[in-house]
Amino acid sequence: HEENGEEFEQKFQQLVSELPKERGWVGKTIHQYEGFWYATPVLKGILILQQHFKAQPDDVLLVSYPKSGTTWLKALMFTIMNRKCFHENDENPLHKSNPHELVNLLETYANVNPKEPRPAYPVMNTHISYTSLPDSIKTSGCRIVYAFRDPKDILVSCWHFANKIKPEELPPISLAEAFEQFSRGASPYGPYWDHVLGYWKASLEWPNRYMFLSYEDLKRDPCFHAKRLAEFLGHPFSPEEEKEGLVSKVVELCSFENLSNLEVNKTGKHFAFSKVENKIFFRQGKVGDAKNHLPGEMMRIMDEITEEKFKNIKYLN
Ligand code: A3P
Repeated sequence: HEENGEEFEQKFQQLVSELPKERGWVGKTIHQYEGFWYATPVLKGILILQQHFKAQPDDVLLVSYPKSGTTWLKALMFTIMNRKCFHENDENPLHKSNPHELVNLLETYANVNPKEPRPAYPVMNTHISYTSLPDSIKTSGCRIVYAFRDPKDILVSCWHFANKIKPEELPPISLAEAFEQFSRGASPYGPYWDHVLGYWKASLEWPNRYMFLSYEDLKRDPCFHAKRLAEFLGHPFSPEEEKEGLVSKVVELCSFENLSNLEVNKTGKHFAFSKVENKIFFRQGKVGDAKNHLPGEMMRIMDEITEEKFKNIKYLN
C-alpha cells in the first residue's frame, strides 16, 4: 500500500535513531547513511527522492559537493540553456533571482514537496553521493555535470558558510573542529574524496553522460569551459554567436563580480529549509584562500589525503 505521511515519519525517526551520529555544522546532528554523512532534513529528502523521484532522459543534473562552485555553475548552465529566450542580457531572470531559485537543490525541494519531488525545470542540482542517488537517475540516461574543487578551499568555504547559516542557539564550529571532521570524512555530505570517486567511477562506465569540471579550471579559462559546457548540454555556441562575443557575455554575466553586486544577491533572501540570505553564497570567489586560514600542518594533511585517495587518477590530482 501507499505509505502515508505518518508511517513515513515513524520509519524515518526509527532509522535516524539507529544510524551513527556526529556533530552537525548547520543543524545539530549529521547521520551516516550508505557511507556518507547527512544533516537530518537532507537525509529525509534523500529517502523521499529514493522512493518517488522519476528522472527523465532529458534531465540535466548538476552534482557538486557543497562549496565546489554550485552557484556559479547554476548561473552558467541556466544561461547557456535558456539564452535563446532572452534577447537582451538584462532579460535574464538572474537579474531578479538568485541562481539557487532557478535551479533547485533536489534534497531541499523534496522536503518541501514530498509527494511530487520533481521541480518543473529540468536542470536540477544535488549534493547527494552517487551511492544514494535515486535509481531512476542512474538508469535514465540523463546527463550529469560534476563540479569539484580543491578540498582545502572547500573546507574553508564550508566552515565560513556553516557559521553564517547555523541557528543562533548552536555554538559556532571552530576551524580546528571542522578540519578534524572533514579530514576524517565525517562532515556534511562527506567524505569529500569518496564523493568524487563515486561519480568518477560512474563516469568511466558511461563517459558520454558525464562532464567533470573543477572550480580551478573554470576560473583559469571560463570561456573555454563555458563552450565545453554548452556542447555537453546540447546547446553549443554557433560560429555567429562566438563572433558576436556571446560566450564572454555569458561568462561576464555569471561572474562573481557581476552576480555578487546585483541587488537581489546583496539584499535578497530565498527559501530553502528556511529563509537564506542570498549574499552568503558569495564570499571571495578565489582559488587558494585556504592558505590564509589553515595552518601549514592542516594543509599538508589535506594534500596527503587527496594524493592518496586520487593516486591513480591524474585528472583529479
Ligand atoms: P568561497 O567561500 O571560497 O569564496 P557553492 O556555490 O557551491 O555554494 O560554493 C560557494 C563558493 O563559490 C564560495 O567560495 C563563493 O564565493 C564562490 N562563488 C559563488 N559564486 C561564484 C561565481 N559566480 N564565480 C566564482 N565563484 C563563485
